[in-house]
Amino acid sequence: MPSTVVVGTQWGDEGKGKFTDLFAKEMEMVVRYQGGHNAGHTLVVDGETTALQLIPSGVLYDHITPVIANGVVVDLQVLINEIDMLEAKGVSCDRLKVSGNAHLILPYHQELDVVFERHLGANKLGTTKRGIGPAYADKAFRVGIRVQDLLDPKIFREKLNVSLHEKGPLLAKVYNRLAPNVEELSRTYLDEYLPRISSFIADTTDLIHEALEARENILFEGAQATFLDLDHGTYPFVTSSNPTAGGACTGTGVGPRHIDRVVGIAKAYTTRVGSGPFPAELFDEIADHFVNVGHEYGTNTGRRRRTGWFDSVMLRHAVRLNSLSEIALTKLDIMDTLETVKICVAYEIDGERVEKMPYHQTDFHKARPIYQEMPGWKEDISQVKEKDKLPRNAQDYVRAIEHYSGVPVSLIGVGPGRRQYVDWQK
Ligand code: GDP
Ligand code: IMO
Ligand code: MG
Repeated sequence: MPSTVVVGTQWGDEGKGKFTDLFAKEMEMVVRYQGGHNAGHTLVVDGETTALQLIPSGVLYDHITPVIANGVVVDLQVLINEIDMLEAKGVSCDRLKVSGNAHLILPYHQELDVVFERHLGANKLGTTKRGIGPAYADKAFRVGIRVQDLLDPKIFREKLNVSLHEKGPLLAKVYNRLAPNVEELSRTYLDEYLPRISSFIADTTDLIHEALEARENILFEGAQATFLDLDHGTYPFVTSSNPTAGGACTGTGVGPRHIDRVVGIAKAYTTRVGSGPFPAELFDEIADHFVNVGHEYGTNTGRRRRTGWFDSVMLRHAVRLNSLSEIALTKLDIMDTLETVKICVAYEIDGERVEKMPYHQTDFHKARPIYQEMPGWKEDISQVKEKDKLPRNAQDYVRAIEHYSGVPVSLIGVGPGRRQYVDWQK
């Protein structure tokens, strides 16, 4: 399988980092194709935890080339901090490649994200306040600044001037903030940041194609998730990029015929951080159980995640949107002590049973979950390595997820560690 996409099937934080790290062992290249440092991907290797925001999760292996491709938005200060953090742990970042076509997140993008969320008040999206939306907006408005622009100081200054023509007054006059200073920004980016990252800048599309031609194995690591997708998610409560598998093509410059396998990562229950509809959300002691036992707090932002039962209506839609070939289920161990477990199998909307993701957002806001209830397994599965050793009720739960999604489960996470998983197909 030369090229594989890993994609979140819910609202993020499914455990993509853990399985990307596991798959990376067999890969030559791991590529981030969208998003930015709104992502927080956690890897636990030999008891040591590493949380990554921008650098692909394959970086921990010496033989991997980690690639930040054109679809990603890059905050250079964050990238440099992450490189320093990894190098301090003894992880070399020498092989890192950053696309010259990736767009930069500049400090004013982050500031705009913060002030706009404040302006929205009760209607806020609950963004990560990383400047993701404003940076992608500039890209679409064609006033974005790309990594390659740093290589031509004159162009960089000119583009900063163009970009700030409206945003300077907007920040100063509408939001009462200081207008950014072009000279100061230029000095920071050209004199301070560029020397730190210039050796990583590359034509990553060419690199990826060279690797494909050499039949090397490539993993495309999605950030965020299907229902945070700008086009297919629960708009406007979404991120500003396309995490769905198609984003791996536009975000890197490979055609769809190059994608051989699409692995959907699904948590055994559901979580969401930030605002927006969530039909299977819980507000009771089970919600607290998922938060406390599952440590459901944002990897970067520390926010408490909203939690609920597994939603197979959403998963069926994610199967379609991403052409998932399989599902890797994570955090099944977090359900170990529950008496009963539930799967949302359909919605009730205005008194009617609906088995598909509603097309109209208003209907999704009104959707009430219809559950299939199953007995829990009440056994610690965190050390289980083989399918047969999983308790019967846990196996039934996994089979029900396969049944409702129509796609096989390949792997099951039973703990955060790299080796804590069960191969369900063996
Ligand atoms: P990502 O954004 O999809 O990479 O996921 P996050 O890293 O934000 O959140 C997933 C959390 O669950 C991390 O703390 C992981 O270490 C942890 N994790 C991943 N898989 C498992 C699993 O199977 N069991 C348990 N208990 N924890 C897991
Ligand atoms: P990983 O890759 C969970 C959510 C935010 C907010 C919405 C928009 O770790 O799964 P943004 O800052 O992107 O403009 O925020 O998207 N969000 C995530 N939620 N996991 C993530 O990444 C997320 N990245 C963004 O909470 O609701
Ligand atoms: Mg995360």
